[in-house]
Formats: sequence, structure tokens, C-alpha cells
Amino acid sequence: MERAWDAEAWLAERPAAAIVRGDNIAVTAGLPDGVAALVYLDPPFNTGRRQSHRPLRAVRDEDGDRVGFGGVRYRSEHAAATGYGDRFEDYVGFLRPRLEQARRLLDERGTLYLHLDYREAHYAKVELDALFGRECFLNELIWAYDYGGKATRRWPAKHDTILVYVKDPASYRFDSAAVDREPYMAPGLVTPEKAARGKLPTDVWWHTIVPTNSRERTGYPTQKPEGVLRRIVQASSEPGDLVVDLFAGSGTTGAVATALGRRALLVDESPQALEVMRRRLPGAWVAEAEPPRRARRARP
Ligand SMILES: C[S@@+](CC[C@H](N)C(=O)[O-])C[C@H]1O[C@@H](n2cnc3c(N)ncnc32)[C@H](O)[C@@H]1O
Repeated sequence: MERAWDAEAWLAERPAAAIVRGDNIAVTAGLPDGVAALVYLDPPFNTGRRQSHRPLRAVRDEDGDRVGFGGVRYRSEHAAATGYGDRFEDYVGFLRPRLEQARRLLDERGTLYLHLDYREAHYAKVELDALFGRECFLNELIWAYDYGGKATRRWPAKHDTILVYVKDPASYRFDSAAVDREPYMAPGLVTPEKAARGKLPTDVWWHTIVPTNSRERTGYPTQKPEGVLRRIVQASSEPGDLVVDLFAGSGTTGAVATALGRRALLVDESPQALEVMRRRLPGAWVAEAEPPRRARRARP
């Protein structure tokens, strides 16, 4: 049995990493204004499909076709599916109060990153312009990857869009020197010193999805790569700051933020997400908020 979510207890204890299972509106309602340096939101994209994944796991079996350490034999079998519904009748209506809460949580130099794809990014941009003011729009980041099936009757859609807004365009955190650099595309055109140092990423980020056999892979559907989150956390927060993720899923933001010396508050309504995050962030402070409000969601 988890402890019940209590914003005052979390504020008093100041854990390095906190995981809260519950609807993000219920969780944020009890939080004071201005607690976070950075809020990252990766909501469901309104794909109209259920997002699910059935990971393979190794099971000891004398007749298995795989041989491990000490000659022990294994077979692979599918574990239970993890996932969440991703179909909304009124997507902007779902997002709006969460964006309002995210902005309220930002401190005076704070930054919001909203991660979407082509389906909803433009509608969300209009909402964010109205909520923050157009002058607070900092960037439209394009995360480009090249994976999966390719459409042949239109250009294959292989990028996500991350909208970046600051609370105050005159004063916000942005430390480009702290960001991991990337190789030049044509290193022969720059000095050897520059080529060795690499270049500062632009607003187009070529980055692989989480590879199937990588150390960071959790099996949670729509898990985002640590490399993408690392840039965001490095640029827009400082050690000791609080980083908040209200659609935390597998906890990528928390894994990156804590590794970089930030504090993390991770919220997700899914019990499966909670289990994945627990494994990924052992020692995290864990709590349960009110049950999710299903009424906002269309039936999958
Ligand atoms: C795209 S996934 C996030 C993936 C995450 N960035 C990662 O790297 O694993 C969206 C998540 O939002 C959660 N979610 C959807 N509606 C929510 C709500 N109202 N409150 C809290 N979590 C919600 C889903 O359970 C799902 O885990």
C-alpha cells in the first residue's frame, strides 16, 4: 500500500525523486506556484490507437532454445502487455487545464517543453500562445528519427515536435555551454579543434528512438530516449532545481534529471507506469493520489 499523495509532506521531505500515481490535475492542484525550474510534458498524442507493448522476458526452461551463464537454458515468452488509451474527443479541452497547471508550477525563470507530433502540435501552439503570450515562445524543436514502416502515398512522418515556452522572455535559464555537443556533418570544413569539440545542436535534433536492446529500454510504450531529455534538462535547469514531468510514463525525465543532480517530480495515472518507474528509480519517494478521472477520455 502506497502512502497517500500529500503535497505538504513532499515539500517538507524534498526527495531527490518522487513518483506519484494519479491524474495530474489532482496531483498538481495541491502544489504551490513557482516550484519548478522546468516542466516537460509528453502527453498521449491522440493517435486514436491504444498504445501498448508486450515485452519479451527470459524464462528458465530445460527445453529452451537459449543457453545462458553456467549452461542454464531459457525460452522467451511475452510478459503482460503494458499500455494506455490514446483517443480523445476533445484533445485541446483535455490539455488546456494541464498546460495551465504546468505554467503555474514554473518559477519566474522557468521553461515548459511540450512534446507532441503533427496531429496536435499546431492546435497546442495556439493554446500556448494564448496562455503564455506569443513573446514567451522560445523554440519549436524537431526531433527527427528514421524508424518503422514508411508510407508511400505521402511523405513518411518521422519527427516529433517539442514546443518550448518561457515564463519570462527577459530572464530564463538557458545554458548552451552545458549541452552535450554533436558531430559536425562535414567535419572537413571546420578546424580540427572545432571538429573535435563538436557543434551545438540546432532546433532540429536527429536522434535514434530507444533501441530495442539498449540499456535504457524499459518496454514501456512511447518511451522517449534519454539523449533527447538530457539536452532539455542540461539547457533549461541547474543542479538542485526541480524538474517536473506530468505524463511521466517510464520515468525518462526522472532518470536523466537525477543523474544530472536535479530533483524530479514524476506523475502518471497508469499503475504500469508506476511499476516501471519504481524499477528505474529505486529509492524514489512513491505516493498515490486520487483515482484517475476517466470521464474526460473517449472510450478506446
Ligand atoms: C507518451 S506517454 C509518456 C512517455 C514518457 N515520456 C517516457 O519517456 O516513458 C504518456 C503518459 O501519459 C500518461 N497519462 C495520460 N493521461 C494522464 C493524466 N490525466 N494524468 C497523468 N498521466 C496521464 C499515460 O499513462 C502515459 O504513461
